[in-house]
Amino acid sequence: MKATAIANANIALIKYWGKRNKDLILPYNSSISMTCDGLWTKTTVEFGDYLEDTIVINDEELKKDEKDVQGHIERIRRMAGITKKAKVISESNFPVASGLASSASGLAALTLATTTAAEMNLDKKQLSILARHGSGSASRSIEGGFVEWLKGEKEDGSDSYARQITPKEHWPDFRMIACIVSEAKKTTSSRAGMAQTVATSPYYEGWLKSIDQDLLHMRDGIMKKDFTIVGSTAEHNALKMHATMTTTKPAIIYWQPATVEIMHAVMHWREQGLESYFTMDAGPQVKILCLEKDEKKILKNLSELDGLKKTIICRPGDAAQLTDKHLF
Ligand code: DP6
Repeated sequence: MKATAIANANIALIKYWGKRNKDLILPYNSSISMTCDGLWTKTTVEFGDYLEDTIVINDEELKKDEKDVQGHIERIRRMAGITKKAKVISESNFPVASGLASSASGLAALTLATTTAAEMNLDKKQLSILARHGSGSASRSIEGGFVEWLKGEKEDGSDSYARQITPKEHWPDFRMIACIVSEAKKTTSSRAGMAQTVATSPYYEGWLKSIDQDLLHMRDGIMKKDFTIVGSTAEHNALKMHATMTTTKPAIIYWQPATVEIMHAVMHWREQGLESYFTMDAGPQVKILCLEKDEKKILKNLSELDGLKKTIICRPGDAAQLTDKHLF
């Protein structure tokens, strides 16, 4: 009863921000993302004769955490009807909890590894729904390429899951350059941040009203491989989400000086004909969207900026999958 899964992180092009049901993690709006091949989490789960569950993430034993990883394992154990305790070892190749979608890859890998170790044999829709219970964005990391998480209408969440729009082969020259400006843990988690936004931002209603149009453009842009539509819609959508964050009480401002520096740089390059766009999540990192033909030039330009610590280049990546290379 041991299984290992690898799941890629995903970065939203149309953001998920706000829950209509906190217990089932049901979103107010649908969202669209790209699964990223450069940002992954690998997790091994074994059910055995252990006295208690042990969970080690990036060499640190996990006690209690906001996403309730232990509760997620318990949820799966109940579904599978088993009682054995679990040993879980997990590692990611990028900083956790700093706005780089670590919970997406983490909970997706955990869901696939745990259900497989429990011999459940779920299909992708069931896996996505289950991963969603751990963390909303994790529902999208079950699939590869470009992915849409359908918000669903039902109270029980059975129609709120992610499905693929196109596989990664559809647009191999699409790039997302993750610009790490700080590796510090963020001060307001996305979970707390979105709850505060729904409760206090006067702009949340405006955000929701504009989503359907953004989703329409994004799906269309992805299908046509129209980079201008995809990039400009993603950038505008990210700025709208941040407008709802900065107008909560108290305000949530995830940006650092280097975040803003990169945003200005991207806009400046664009004016000069180097087409690129930015998007940011619940953290200070900037993700630059570009095409392969411009990647080198953008990396060179970025190397001249002060506040940038590191870049990670992502292409459209694979769905979550099993491997027999166990971590223990
Ligand atoms: C800004 O999926 O981390 O990255 O469902 O509470 O676990 P929970 O939140 P989470 O939020 C992600 C928010 C975002 C936008 C996005 O990925 O769509």
